[in-house]
Amino acid sequence: MTSEIRTELTGGVLTITFARPDKKNALTNEMYGVLADTIEQAQRDSHVRVLLLQGDGDIYTAGNDVAEFAAIAAGKGPGERHVHRFLHALANSTVPIVAAVNGKAVGVGTTMLLHCDYVVLAQDAQLITPFVNLALVPEAASSYLLPLCIGHVRAFEMFAMGEPLDAQTAVAWGIANKVCANDQLRAEARRMAEKLAAKPAGSLSAMKKLMRDAEKLVSQMDSESARFQERLASAEAREAFSAFAEKRKPDFTRIAQ
Ligand code: COA
Repeated sequence: MTSEIRTELTGGVLTITFARPDKKNALTNEMYGVLADTIEQAQRDSHVRVLLLQGDGDIYTAGNDVAEFAAIAAGKGPGERHVHRFLHALANSTVPIVAAVNGKAVGVGTTMLLHCDYVVLAQDAQLITPFVNLALVPEAASSYLLPLCIGHVRAFEMFAMGEPLDAQTAVAWGIANKVCANDQLRAEARRMAEKLAAKPAGSLSAMKKLMRDAEKLVSQMDSESARFQERLASAEAREAFSAFAEKRKPDFTRIAQ
């Protein structure tokens, strides 16, 4: 198992940690593969009663590794893209998922929260969905779930502007449950996860299945994925990825639609 994803099972809580802090926990294909395997296996392991997601360092995750996006855009991507398996595993999970978010949660860092059942934010948490800034489209069924959660105009603004949403606003809008002090984040998320682990697991999982239409979510993910692939191959996306690598602002004004 790659050391960039750490897992630990204690007291029925399987903690999954994004552990690539030098790259702001940006998620690579290999990391998605481990995440997908872990979540899939957890569904079959009666010792796992709750999943807890968290990130090492000063950030939850910077989202998909942009260098890997650039490689895919150049036709040099991996044979199998594990991100799809990871997203499907999230949508299909009947094990409750808790997230502990500190610092920035960018792209899939935010959209995965829409599949979590209890979200704790540190005071410094910021939710950012810069898909349009990268000339892409939203993924992880977020084009359906985010408007459902916060309304169309707020969701449109988050996706189109890509500006950070602070922790208090995220709670007020119903994306997360609570905000706590940065140094209390892991303890608080763990406390909630342990509370859930003590509940009747069969009842929780039956309730979750009633509340989330996994089939609809997977179908939305697949539609998004088709658009996402088209966008990855666009001149706009190439400009966005080059700008990121060259640490400059992108210039889309010369590119016709
Ligand atoms: N993919 C690949 N590498 C990433 C990354 C990503 N998504 N996010 C950060 N990194 C790398 C940086 O390239 C840098 O690497 P280097 O030290 O080799 O130059 C390192 O992580 C530290 O990042 P840096 O930008 O210096 O940190 P910061 O604290 O100033 O900013 C972010 C953090 C997350 C705001 C900024 O890195 C960022 O905007 N990342 C891109 C996020 C993104 O667009 N994700 C895709 C969403 S769909």
